[in-house]
Amino acid sequence: MDRRSLIGGNWKMHLDAESAAALASDVAAAAAGITGAVDLAVFPPHPYLQCVFKAAGGHLLVGGQDVSDQPEGAFTGQVSAAMLADCGCQLTLVGHSERRHGLGETGPVLAQKSRQALRCGLRVLLCVGETLEDREAGRARDVVLEQLRGGLEGVSTEAISRVDLAYEPVWAIGTGRTAGPQEAQEMHAVLRSDIEARYDARSAARMRILYGGSVKPSNAADLMACEDVDGALVGGASLQADSFVEIARAAARPEQP
Ligand code: 13P
Repeated sequence: MDRRSLIGGNWKMHLDAESAAALASDVAAAAAGITGAVDLAVFPPHPYLQCVFKAAGGHLLVGGQDVSDQPEGAFTGQVSAAMLADCGCQLTLVGHSERRHGLGETGPVLAQKSRQALRCGLRVLLCVGETLEDREAGRARDVVLEQLRGGLEGVSTEAISRVDLAYEPVWAIGTGRTAGPQEAQEMHAVLRSDIEARYDARSAARMRILYGGSVKPSNAADLMACEDVDGALVGGASLQADSFVEIARAAARPEQP
């Protein structure tokens, strides 16, 4: 199956309202000139979602960096899936390593977030990835599969068609150290075959699996050439329109008739 690539810009806790809107409109303008099958998404800080949505003018997908596991209520500081949808979001990250490791979020809460988002019509970009310690101890694959299964607990075969994955090894995030194309391909293939085993071949074939961790214009093409790498989740390099769009160009696939 030919999958349309997806390039996501995770802006993390950077920018202000003015620079966020300017970046979105620059990326949207440049994206119009990309030929090929690639979707571009940006994940601004929550307070800037609406201004970024307006600036994107329908040319970019806009997503939340996180979502509450609860539908509504007395949950100070949390943002619900319905609120994200209301602000123009089509998708949300779930389980980014900065929340798993920095804030201690684990399987059951993440699965609840995934289900909430899917219930409200959002797509989910579920992030998984091992630490350097895990990799050196030879348990990278087990850790990543546990995160995958945990984050999708209770997600139906119907809903899985609205889930994409991002493999982001923690040791590659913001470090300048990237997994080599072969390391990325190996883990992506493991993830896809687990989806096939737990759901079905069709769901596995159409799921997009993004790589994340120090992706830049200089290494994007080699990563994107891997059979099971369907795009990238980009941190630092997404804060400049030029570098983000260059990565998107490297990920664009031939348009299907
Ligand atoms: P960097 O591209 O800055 O390494 O960040 C990756 C990331 O965490 C994207 O979600």
